Amino acid sequence: MHAAPRPAPPAEPISGSLLSVDDVADEQITYLLDLADHYAGLRRLGALAPRPLVGRTLINLFLEPSTRTMASFEIAAQRLGADVLSLPAEGSSLRKDESGLDTAQTLAAMGADVMVVRSKEAGLQALLAERLACPVVNGGDGAAEHPTQALLDAATLRAAKGRIEGLTVAIVGDVAHSRVAGSGAKLLKRLGAQVRFVGPAALMPEGAADVPRFETLREGLKDCDAVMALRVQRERMEDAEAPDGAAFHAAYGLTYETLAFARPDAVVMHPGPMNRGVEIDGDLADDETHSLVLKQVAYGVFTRMAILDALIGGRA
Ligand code: CP
Repeated sequence: MHAAPRPAPPAEPISGSLLSVDDVADEQITYLLDLADHYAGLRRLGALAPRPLVGRTLINLFLEPSTRTMASFEIAAQRLGADVLSLPAEGSSLRKDESGLDTAQTLAAMGADVMVVRSKEAGLQALLAERLACPVVNGGDGAAEHPTQALLDAATLRAAKGRIEGLTVAIVGDVAHSRVAGSGAKLLKRLGAQVRFVGPAALMPEGAADVPRFETLREGLKDCDAVMALRVQRERMEDAEAPDGAAFHAAYGLTYETLAFARPDAVVMHPGPMNRGVEIDGDLADDETHSLVLKQVAYGVFTRMAILDALIGGRA
């Protein structure tokens, strides 16, 4: 057994901030996915990763809750040798009405080489990318973009299926409030997948008119190779808008029965956090013959290692 070789860097180095999947060229995306595979292979072999980030500092500034994104950036940076500081909003001077901009500038002045920022609304990351001397990575901005999630989902899907080109992928549920759906659909389409949105009309986005929409799982999952369930994002809705959990599950829940509408070898994905029994059946989510949920989490670390290595590792 051996690890996938370290890929050659792209002709155009990856540099600057990563605010959107639009910030990376096709060749750079392939490089990041290949480098994530390389790091996955090293981990499988029990081999240590190189430490190109020794002496570098990653700062995580999270103004919205996170488990996966914040923790995996921490682990990714540590595996590559960086120093890491994570600052969630709770317990920080943001609770004394300090602004996100002042908080970020304060942390940057302590010597950040890269800052990962999550915010409740879009815009802060772009402002910080202009104001800070270090690259800014968008760790999720409202309902707009989550580029590192899109990259890790693509890396996971490619590892499971051996390709992305030609696959049909359904993104199901609350697409309107999902930054994962927005970034994921753009990236998967660029990599040659057919992407569909499936869900109630009230939870479909106003943009992304080029993505076909389906209102039933029976129609929307037909011939799909992968089905990505999304959480109903109640925190971005008025109470009156939020669907009843049981009714949503009956119409749009991903279960063994509804997965049967897709191809027999279809894989199940979910970016997390999951609401079991609402958008996805818990047993199906745990069933690794179909579910990639925990592989997505593992690839989250490998993909973020690739991103940090490319941005501040000095090689690509
Ligand atoms: N998928 C994702 O962004 O998860 P967290 O909110 O836990 O970071």
